[in-house]
Amino acid sequence: MKTPELPPYDHKPQPYKGPSFDEVMEMRKRHLTPALITYYKKPIMIVEGSMQYLFDEKGTRYLDMFAGIVTVSVGHSHPHVMEAARKQYDVLQHTTTIYLHPGIAEYGKALAAKMPGDLSVCYFVNSGSEANDLAMLMARAYTGNYDIVALRNAYHGGISSTMGLTSHHTWKYNVPHSFGIQHALMPDTYRGPWGRDDKDAGKKYADDVLDMIRFGTSGQVAAFIAESIQGVGGTVIFPDGYLKRTYEHVRAQGGVCIADEVQAGFGRTGTHFWGFETQGVIPDIVTMAKGIGNGAPLAAVVTTPEIAKTLASRIHFNTYGGNPISCAMGKAVLEVIEKEGLQKHSLELGGYFIDGLNKLAEKHDIIGDVRGKGLMLGVELVKDRKTKEPAAAECAQVFERCKELNLLIGKGGLFGNVLRIKPPMCIQKPDVDFALEVLDIAFSEL
Ligand SMILES: Cc1ncc(COP(=O)(O)O)c(C=O)c1O
Repeated sequence: MKTPELPPYDHKPQPYKGPSFDEVMEMRKRHLTPALITYYKKPIMIVEGSMQYLFDEKGTRYLDMFAGIVTVSVGHSHPHVMEAARKQYDVLQHTTTIYLHPGIAEYGKALAAKMPGDLSVCYFVNSGSEANDLAMLMARAYTGNYDIVALRNAYHGGISSTMGLTSHHTWKYNVPHSFGIQHALMPDTYRGPWGRDDKDAGKKYADDVLDMIRFGTSGQVAAFIAESIQGVGGTVIFPDGYLKRTYEHVRAQGGVCIADEVQAGFGRTGTHFWGFETQGVIPDIVTMAKGIGNGAPLAAVVTTPEIAKTLASRIHFNTYGGNPISCAMGKAVLEVIEKEGLQKHSLELGGYFIDGLNKLAEKHDIIGDVRGKGLMLGVELVKDRKTKEPAAAECAQVFERCKELNLLIGKGGLFGNVLRIKPPMCIQKPDVDFALEVLDIAFSEL
């Protein structure tokens, strides 16, 4: 097969004048924590980005189908977002919320306008982990209950509290964690006990949450938290009706419902702005990060005025949360999504992509499952379609080969056997064609 060519793109990266790859590697090894991992047997150094493309120090261009881990929602160095940041940098970088600033107020109003129901109060923080930690606090303070139900296969962050919510042994250190946290069945219709041919699958998985509450807690819970589509866990999509019935169970047991929109939010699913809307529910608390700021250290918890009020009983403060730069960038991201019609674009291109992936599945038996919504896609690789034995080594090989052919994608799932495709929402059809061609080659070479 001939090597596919990246679609033409008119951007010349600046000549790179910094330390060499080897020097950077050496400094990183010596002075940065060994806990940092790099992708690829021979890692790459990225020094410039423009929309859906990244450039290494030699000027080699890559198509970025992973968006800095589902973070660069509207495109690398998107001109409108950069301009908003630059304008703000010129006049004021930081004060904190002890003084009024128009940026945080206007952004809070704009973000609240994207929310359904009574979700109208924003609390800005700096990362998804912080947002989920705050949501846990809010839920416990509001309900007076302690136990929280999360899902197996979830990822909600790596700080102590959210490590407890996260449910992959690979992300959990051997320290006390998860006190007051229970993990219900992951509603996975590919691997779980109830599959896509079971029209009651949503109900059955939801009833496991009730069982978990009855058997594993005092019977009264503070919250249920779930990613609207599991991201790190390998793009797991819940069966219809799952969240609706689960929310009913949780609310009946005194809890509030938290939707983690860190990956699925901001139009990525195509049909809706928020992932939870694809399940026809309105949560009580929504956490968001990553795509919210297109790379700015920005995250938020949005809730109802009634729940928000509980935190006013003490002083709660976050130095950088809602700083003028992040808020300017966050507001600009909302404007770009709207102006460029990126939600609709995600729907169209996501549909085109999934059709192409399904065609690859007809050709390559290694593909056990193709799933996703909009531009949040997953391809699960298995050694055998009947036993569904995870094909982790093969997944790693495909992933490496894609990089050699200038395509960057992600990898996930507990066994590392799911290819994750979650590009900046500005990708175009020729990019999808290129990615499919590269994947076809990588699968053919297995
Ligand atoms: C769904 C979800 N929630 C929370 C987090 C944690 O976000 P952060 O890394 O910004 O703390 C992540 C990060 O990958 C995530 O995917």
